[in-house]
Amino acid sequence: MEKIESKNINDTKGIAQDILTKVKPGQLIALVGNLGAGKTVFVKALAESLGVEDNVTSPTFVLMKVYNTKHESIKKLVHVDCYRLEGKEDLADIGLSEYIEDENNLVVIEWADKIKNLPDNIIRINIKSTGEESRLFEID
Ligand SMILES: Nc1ncnc2c1ncn2[C@@H]1O[C@H](COP(=O)(O)OP(=O)(O)OP(=O)(O)O)[C@@H](O)[C@H]1O
Ligand SMILES: [Mg+2]
Repeated sequence: MEKIESKNINDTKGIAQDILTKVKPGQLIALVGNLGAGKTVFVKALAESLGVEDNVTSPTFVLMKVYNTKHESIKKLVHVDCYRLEGKEDLADIGLSEYIEDENNLVVIEWADKIKNLPDNIIRINIKSTGEESRLFEID
């Protein structure tokens, strides 16, 4: 596990940029962390780095939003927020399987711990609040 400290939102943007260089085609990013930890801020930073022009807002009420990017291999950013899911749901139950199988997509899931059958080959990021502006990113 890799631990990275973010001292402010700018650091969080840097961490997102760095993750983008490491993510493999078809790999998804699972975000875990309390309310206000910085999951959505992280997804917005990913979107910015990928050249997404639309405004990224948390898809809390719609579960999932898909954005076109300007990146050469990651064509779409799929932002999923599982906060409102009742319990342990299956990827297929929420219609995510097809998005994950398409290697042109980067799927990023907030509250990923609410999904029971995530693939093994994923980047898992736990964000912990350690102060007003500081956060600890645990990546594995
Ligand atoms: N270093 C930092 N990195 C990320 N966010 C930070 C940092 N410092 C302060 N913040 C603030 O923390 C908040 C993070 O909110 P955000 O909506 O991203 O949380 P979240 O994890 O998505 O919460 P939720 O579970 O409600 O969706 C924002 O208000 C942001 O400005
Ligand atoms: Mg959020």
